[in-house]
Amino acid sequence: MSEIWTAVDTYLGTLFPDDAVLQAAVERGRTEGLPEIAVSPMQGRLLNILARAMGARAILEVGTLAGYSAIWLGRALPADGRMITLEVDAHHAEVARANLASAGLQNVEVRLGAARTTLPQLIEESAGPFDLIFIDADKVGYPEYFTWSLDLSHAGTLIIADNVVRHGNILDENTDDVSSRAIREFNAMIAADARVDATVLQVVGVKGHDGLAFAVVR
Ligand SMILES: C[S@@+](CC[C@H](N)C(=O)[O-])C[C@H]1O[C@@H](n2cnc3c(N)ncnc32)[C@H](O)[C@@H]1O
Repeated sequence: MSEIWTAVDTYLGTLFPDDAVLQAAVERGRTEGLPEIAVSPMQGRLLNILARAMGARAILEVGTLAGYSAIWLGRALPADGRMITLEVDAHHAEVARANLASAGLQNVEVRLGAARTTLPQLIEESAGPFDLIFIDADKVGYPEYFTWSLDLSHAGTLIIADNVVRHGNILDENTDDVSSRAIREFNAMIAADARVDATVLQVVGVKGHDGLAFAVVR
């Protein structure tokens, strides 16, 4: 099946090609030796469309990598909008800053540090509320990142999280994989938390079989 998922994404890529800036961002990440684990082009496009449809003016991302999804999200902002993206790896942050500068996105701040430190910092600084929060970092942190995200939200904030199906590994309740265990906990949290209305969508494509979670704050 994965061959046809990839073929369909490749075909869709011919209809909806990334522009030169996005292509250059991917290329810089590759040249700099970053892992190729950014959202797919169609997912990046989805993030941009959702942010624009909801009129997001303040966006937070957890997990920057080379800034590919940050470019998609940053482009959705109005001229006076703002975005902060959190990254633990200094080299990733440096590459992302270069990519965001090439994209002309001066209003996107790349904040270096572990999200376990930087998210509480943002709360302390009263940096929120954010209209859209995209969680895409280490999976073990997702339950905590969700909790902090709620503190950085207002009614109507959309929280999106990537990689919440993990090729179906979330089905195994006895799994030894700490990431899958954390994602099971995260999915159960967003399903049960009365402060949000949430759903999880399975996604297939160039990145195989995975899923995206969407939670809107009540
Ligand atoms: C899947 S990649 C992000 C991809 C990016 N959102 C995109 O689609 O272009 C995950 C990123 O999260 C970063 N990361 C991992 N653990 C983190 C943590 N505890 N705090 C902040 N960033 C972290 C990794 O270094 C990596 O760059």
